[in-house]
Amino acid sequence: MSEQGHHRVGKVLIDKDRIAQRVREMGAELARRLDADGGSAGGVVLIPILTGAVVFVADLIRHMPVKMSLGLVTVSSYPGATVESKGARIRGELPKNLGGKRVVIVDDILDTGQTLSVVTSLVREQNPAGVRVCVLLRKPPLARKVPFEADHVGFDIPDRFVVGYGLDYNGYYRNLPEIAELELT
Ligand code: IMP
Ligand code: MG
Repeated sequence: MSEQGHHRVGKVLIDKDRIAQRVREMGAELARRLDADGGSAGGVVLIPILTGAVVFVADLIRHMPVKMSLGLVTVSSYPGATVESKGARIRGELPKNLGGKRVVIVDDILDTGQTLSVVTSLVREQNPAGVRVCVLLRKPPLARKVPFEADHVGFDIPDRFVVGYGLDYNGYYRNLPEIAELELT
């Protein structure tokens, strides 16, 4: 695929009502599962992977009646105008003091698996009481470059480049309220 070609926002894959409904369900399910895991005793820390998870996590946590804190981590995997994964790079530091906590890692999409496997291994090094991984979107297993399974998935989508609801192309379109295919022309 071209690095700098023309593009436009194409077909809507998931409209905002479907997103809202699914995010509400996911928040409730996560809260239930965390409760079954032992509740918020010891502490629940949500770690959204920025920048892509920013819209999703803002909606998700408002459907989670759980005592929690947020610890942000920034990872870039698509620097610039490209739709090809360049691998995951952590910017800055991971939240500290995760030992004994129940950690929920939240990302916009599971694609090659590189981002989530890097973040998950670093989180596990701190010996948390538990780790759950929650993604809004999941591309098919064939997209994986490293094996990775998420515990909570909003929608399975085809192996297409998508934008909106936090997902970007070259930094743009994160503010679209729906999830749409990006068409390279
Ligand atoms: P992975 O490391 O390849 O699994 O990619 C995860 C990250 O790549 C996500 O957090 C997104 O920021 C980005 N990404 C992967 N697929 C897409 C896409 O279709 N549109 C926009 N960003 C994507
Ligand atoms: Mg991202």
